Amino acid sequence: MNLIQKPDIRPANPNFSSGPCAKRPGWSVDTLNDALTGRSHRSAPGKAKLAEVIDRTRAILGVPDDYRVAIVPASDTGAVEMALWSFLGARGVDMLHWESFGSGWVTDVIKQLKLKGVRSLDAPYGKLPNLSAVDFSHDVVFTWNGTTSGVCVPDGDWIADDRQGLTICDATSAVFACDLPWDKLDVTTYSWQKVMGGEAAHGMLILSPRAVRRLESYTPAWPMPKIFRLTKGGKLIEGIFRGETINTPSMIAVEDAIDGLKWAEEIGGRKALIARAKANLAVIEAWVEKTAWVGFLAENADIRSRTSVCLMVVDDWFKGLDTDKRSAVAKALAKKLDAEGTAYDIGGYRDAPPGLRLWAGATVETADLEKLFPWLDWAYASVKAEMED
Ligand SMILES: Cc1ncc(COP(=O)(O)O)c(C=O)c1O
Repeated sequence: MNLIQKPDIRPANPNFSSGPCAKRPGWSVDTLNDALTGRSHRSAPGKAKLAEVIDRTRAILGVPDDYRVAIVPASDTGAVEMALWSFLGARGVDMLHWESFGSGWVTDVIKQLKLKGVRSLDAPYGKLPNLSAVDFSHDVVFTWNGTTSGVCVPDGDWIADDRQGLTICDATSAVFACDLPWDKLDVTTYSWQKVMGGEAAHGMLILSPRAVRRLESYTPAWPMPKIFRLTKGGKLIEGIFRGETINTPSMIAVEDAIDGLKWAEEIGGRKALIARAKANLAVIEAWVEKTAWVGFLAENADIRSRTSVCLMVVDDWFKGLDTDKRSAVAKALAKKLDAEGTAYDIGGYRDAPPGLRLWAGATVETADLEKLFPWLDWAYASVKAEMED
């Protein structure tokens, strides 16, 4: 029997998905009224919209003036693939991975690009690889925040200032939630659909001057599809970094990206975004601290994500179940909360250990997380009682 009474207050916004993520507070489709629909993205106003995304992004993220910022096809995946295909092969590569997305990039580099001299530095879900083992004479590919394990690098201090290789960072669920040390990052990617709650469609690619030098001095041995091409005749195509996109973007998605950036500016920019994510993680930590049945997949708080927060069930009853049953419990929890309209899409990622994942980036209201906790307690007690019957 479930002795916990069903709570009566629901989060105002039940969207806790880790991508596409919750829209910013106050968002409605009306914010897209100024979208340049039915017009060419190569018209003067079209180019101005695209340049606006780049300029506002640069200002909010504090990207140095000598770094290039581009809007590229196919979301973060497109941006990462473009980077792997364009930069790698010039020297050895260290691939750091500790969850599903990072591991996917390793597969690409080894099985698709068929690169030799690749070192794989990995760690199980919940942990980080040994960052002090990285060889910075190699190019280094890593994910700042492993979205499916809720483990992120603590900072950029482990990255050598005098590195010979490039750092290629998939920062899609970290940017706008962590202060990224641009001097340590040569190639950085992310998508609109994550921390800013934008529409899925396009990716962002940010290049350091060293990355540009690599592009202009090295030609990969493999063919380069048009969709990945950043150079022409050995020179960087500068237009791509002014908003002259390689192919046609959705001007509705562009408008939405601008809306998100304007909201960020209104609330106080990068610092305010980071503070919101930190506050969200803090209330989750306080709830976990006082709740016996739940724990973090990332036990070490220094490497715990403040965006994709991954939770495990830690009570003895659950630990005594076999893997299939644990998985069934986690799925039942997420389903129950979905059916109540209390929390959508909070099941852990399919490759991760069974558990829950709460998005806690800046677009999520702290008050909504606080309203969710009693529901999580209720759902767990209910599922446990049902399964014990
Ligand atoms: C770390 C990481 N990399 C890549 C991706 C893929 O992003 P997209 O679907 O925007 O291409 C995701 C999506 O969740 C992610 O979390």
